[in-house]
Amino acid sequence: MLSLVLASLLPALAHAQTVQTFAPPAACPVCVSGNYTGMSNGSLPVAPVVAGKSYDRFITIWLENTDFASAAASSVFQSIAKQGILLTNYNGVTHPSEPNYVAAMAGDFFGMGDDNNYYLPSNVSSMVDLLEAKNVSWASYQENMPYDGFAGDYAQTNYLNASAGSYTYYKRKHNPHIIFNSVASNPNRALRVRNFNDFAVDVNASALPQHVWITPNLVNDAHDTDVTFVSAWLSYWLEPLLNNTQFNNNRTLIQLTFDENESYTIQNTVYTVLLGGAVPENLRGTNDSTFCEWHANELCRRVAAPESPADSVDTHYSMMSSTQNNWGLGSLGRQDTNKTVAAVWNFQANQTGYTNYVPSAAEIPMLNLTTIFPGAANTGIWTPILAPNVSAVGAGGGSVFYNSSSTNTSLTSYTAQNLTAMNLVNPDTINPNYTYVGFNVDNTSSPAAISASSAQHASAAATSGASAATTSKASAGEKTVATGGVLGALALGLAMLL
Ligand SMILES: *[C@@H]1O[C@H](CO)[C@@H](O)[C@H](O)[C@H]1NC(C)=O
Ligand SMILES: *[C@@H]1O[C@H](CO)[C@@H](O)[C@H](O)[C@H]1NC(C)=O
Ligand SMILES: *[C@@H]1O[C@H](CO)[C@@H](O)[C@H](O)[C@H]1NC(C)=O
Ligand SMILES: *[C@@H]1O[C@H](CO)[C@@H](O)[C@H](O)[C@H]1NC(C)=O
Ligand SMILES: *[C@@H]1O[C@H](CO)[C@@H](O)[C@H](O)[C@H]1NC(C)=O
Ligand SMILES: *[C@@H]1O[C@H](CO)[C@@H](O)[C@H](O)[C@H]1NC(C)=O
Ligand SMILES: *[C@@H]1O[C@H](CO)[C@@H](O)[C@H](O)[C@H]1NC(C)=O
Ligand SMILES: *[C@@H]1O[C@H](CO)[C@@H](O)[C@H](O)[C@H]1NC(C)=O
Ligand SMILES: *[C@@H]1O[C@H](CO)[C@@H](O)[C@H](O)[C@H]1NC(C)=O
Ligand SMILES: *[C@@H]1O[C@H](CO)[C@@H](O)[C@H](O)[C@H]1NC(C)=O
Ligand SMILES: *[C@@H]1O[C@H](CO)[C@@H](O)[C@H](O)[C@H]1NC(C)=O
Ligand SMILES: *[C@@H]1O[C@H](CO)[C@@H](O)[C@H](O)[C@H]1NC(C)=O
Repeated sequence: MLSLVLASLLPALAHAQTVQTFAPPAACPVCVSGNYTGMSNGSLPVAPVVAGKSYDRFITIWLENTDFASAAASSVFQSIAKQGILLTNYNGVTHPSEPNYVAAMAGDFFGMGDDNNYYLPSNVSSMVDLLEAKNVSWASYQENMPYDGFAGDYAQTNYLNASAGSYTYYKRKHNPHIIFNSVASNPNRALRVRNFNDFAVDVNASALPQHVWITPNLVNDAHDTDVTFVSAWLSYWLEPLLNNTQFNNNRTLIQLTFDENESYTIQNTVYTVLLGGAVPENLRGTNDSTFCEWHANELCRRVAAPESPADSVDTHYSMMSSTQNNWGLGSLGRQDTNKTVAAVWNFQANQTGYTNYVPSAAEIPMLNLTTIFPGAANTGIWTPILAPNVSAVGAGGGSVFYNSSSTNTSLTSYTAQNLTAMNLVNPDTINPNYTYVGFNVDNTSSPAAISASSAQHASAAATSGASAATTSKASAGEKTVATGGVLGALALGLAMLL
């Protein structure tokens, strides 16, 4: 255990010793590279385009841990902002990193207050369900993830400094889709979580889907580096892509954002720019109006009076509400439908006739809080996954999506338990160990192989759940939580995988 802890600290210590200097991992943003480990196994199928109201493609690019003021001081960020709309009131929803990624996919972070490995049960619906219900194609591209659908962390040769040994460029905590068992358990979904060699191949084949998530590696996203480094990466990667019509055309909206800010003691405002051909020309180079005032060397000072220059509040939930609004999707019945924190992009709301809510200063939540929320991803104040609000109406107008056979819609509250104090294992931390060997995305020519493999995983996991239920014992001398039908629902959820 101690050696595990030490091993996980070593990469952090190693990078703290030397200041890293940007160097491109590939010859160009759409060039394949040995620095990305797994070579592409071909492009995604080119899918029919489902027309959106304001754009036909949405690309979100997630950088890491940077205060608004730090990014705003970079000439590269300033130059990029001039090509789009700078959102001055856009916020992460909590700290640290991983819960922000989960929130942007599911409309909730389920109490998560750390960057540990979670495996959210199959009854947790996500944006993937909403997009697929309307045939809007999607993919996630994770730089330096070694191969498609990979579910761990990955260390490889340090391409910035070959004599420095191996380096962890890729971490699961920044890969939101794979955290959801509803994605990870399904090869056709999991293999849409792709690496940057696939990105190159997909763009060059004009096969980039309509809803695209991009996570750069741990140096290019500023996680292990700084604004200077990420600025160099943006000049290498994003700026040329903005001119590539296979990436950006006049029906493309690109969101450049950060998962969270760096300073936990201030509001969680992050530098976020809307870019791409779908941004109306008259709005390029403008700031979205703001609920706060800006002062030199200081972050957003909250405006006291509700009648002061005020605006709707954008957060990571706005990615969801805006996507739902654009394609007329359903919702998830979580914070994606909460108008206080999930404003639709103002330019888009204006085009689609959607009315955002403008909260008073007192209604604007502090989004710098962490670890204090109960939920399935908080072992100290644990609840099962609670039911969504099935009668909520989101910005897309469609109904709330949930899996009716694995969702107990009356489970809307639960008295939180401290599983640690009870010596119980949080079921949402058990790795189901899905693998996809031999599968190709959307290749259903070998359905027997797919179901055989799924059955294997499902029964293995169901068996371990059942044994925990009867013996209340696991290998580490800990028990698996067995409250209020959790295991029955777990088994049911796993059976759904078939
Ligand atoms: C890998 O990255 C290094 C550093 O930029 C570069 O010198 C090398 O050419 C890259 N390899 C490939 C195949 O692009
Ligand atoms: C999605 O595509 C399938 C297969 O082509 C089709 O049957 C279905 O009607 C489509 N759904 C929507 C909402 O367009
Ligand atoms: C492509 O398939 C090969 C063989 O299965 C695998 O080693 C490689 O990692 C795959 N590439 C990606 C990007 O998944
Ligand atoms: C590369 O790594 C080696 C070994 O850690 C170190 O001594 C050297 O200073 C590094 N070079 C640069 C340019 O950072
Ligand atoms: C993109 O195109 C614009 C004009 O069309 C040009 O000014 C700019 O330099 C180009 N940027 C890159 C990075 O190629
Ligand atoms: C958008 O791009 C398409 C395809 O290149 C072109 O036909 C159309 O005129 C463009 N529309 C605008 C408003 O620029
Ligand atoms: C959150 O930020 C506010 C300032 O905007 C500060 O007063 C508060 O202490 C911060 N909360 C935490 C937990 O750091
Ligand atoms: C809203 O749309 C109208 C035209 O429909 C336009 O005149 C106005 O500039 C737009 N405002 C914003 C903030 O986008
Ligand atoms: C909506 O968000 C606000 C601000 O975080 C919060 O106070 C309120 O409880 C939320 N409403 C619901 C129904 O979750
Ligand atoms: C849960 O229990 C553990 C072990 O007793 C304790 O260290 C921790 O502070 C508790 N957490 C909460 C949120 O009460
Ligand atoms: C997944 O693999 C790990 C490591 O081998 C093992 O400890 C764990 O029990 C497996 N999970 C399941 C659900 O079988
Ligand atoms: C979702 O599934 C998990 C795992 O099976 C279960 O613990 C939880 O009660 C379910 N939640 C709802 C709302 O059905």
